[in-house]
Amino acid sequence: MKKIGLMEILGKSPAIKKVLQLIEKVAPRDSTVLILGESGTGKELVARAIHAKSRRKEGPFVPVNCGAIPEELLESELFGYERGAFTGASRSKPGRFELAHGGTIFLDEVSEMSPKLQVKLLRVLQERVVERLGSEEPRPVDIRIIAATNRDLEKEVAQGRFREDLYFRLNVIPIRMPPLRERKEDIPLLAEHFLQKFCEREEVPLKRLSPGALECLMNYPWPGNVRELENLMERLVILVEEDVIREEDLPEHFRGLTPPPGLIPVEIPPQGIDLKQMLLEIEKTFILKALELSGGVRTHAAKLLGLKRTTLVEKMKRLGLE
Ligand SMILES: Nc1ncnc2c1ncn2[C@@H]1O[C@H](COP(=O)(O)OP(=O)(O)OP(=O)(O)O)[C@@H](O)[C@H]1O
Ligand SMILES: [Mg+2]
Repeated sequence: MKKIGLMEILGKSPAIKKVLQLIEKVAPRDSTVLILGESGTGKELVARAIHAKSRRKEGPFVPVNCGAIPEELLESELFGYERGAFTGASRSKPGRFELAHGGTIFLDEVSEMSPKLQVKLLRVLQERVVERLGSEEPRPVDIRIIAATNRDLEKEVAQGRFREDLYFRLNVIPIRMPPLRERKEDIPLLAEHFLQKFCEREEVPLKRLSPGALECLMNYPWPGNVRELENLMERLVILVEEDVIREEDLPEHFRGLTPPPGLIPVEIPPQGIDLKQMLLEIEKTFILKALELSGGVRTHAAKLLGLKRTTLVEKMKRLGLE
């Protein structure tokens, strides 16, 4: 069976399963959907999946990145214009709302819209009509609206940067995309999927991760989420020649992230803790351990800690370990 790469939302974590269930439920409806989540969590993938599972699937899916288009241009992109509406408008042009007729428009980074455009979008949501620039004629559009943002929209509203009435109109069905670090159980599956994808593309034998390398990936916080994982796998497929990707093949910031069991108490007692002091203690413990393992050879200990020798010596001085 041929896989439809674009549509596949992989994951077996409870968090992603909940998202998939929600997609199944909302897709056949025409309700507005607001997809929230950090960058790279799969917001666009979800928007496309909703469209593909909707009764509009034969219609167009029109993505618009509101953060990437300058305001003036965004207005004419979205609403279109009539001939002569502004200098250079030598013929009329439909906007993306019109182009999405019978389908779905995906307003990505919707929080970046200017106040003026927010008002205009509100009107589209309320009345399902658009007016091209330079025209007063309202044109009805049959569209489903899906919006996405990686910002905290409630905060944007509280700080007066995003209209509250628009927020309520958009937030009919919110879908929160969990960050990758909150669904670590999906990492092996996703890593394998991307390795397979890039090995096929590059026509090289399938690579796999050593248990050590996988452990590093499991302990990494993934600020760039699935996109970061995807990019890393592409890089490894191209750079690593062996079939097995080892811990040493990973970029430096992925390595040595194994949290020592029991060392860091994640409990905070009612009286609080002294974080600075605690971090110093942790640093000290690791340095002593590295020195022990390296028989006191500082160059070696520094290597074990992923530090430069000079940095290690400095830290030892500061911690009184000399
Ligand atoms: N659950 C998943 N299964 C498979 N691939 C995924 C999954 N989540 C994300 N991806 C892939 O990760 C990449 C990033 O996803 P996407 O572009 O949808 O994220 P985004 O939230 O829109 O990111 P940004 O905020 O940076 O625009 C895409 O290539 C997408 O196919
Ligand atoms: Mg996106």
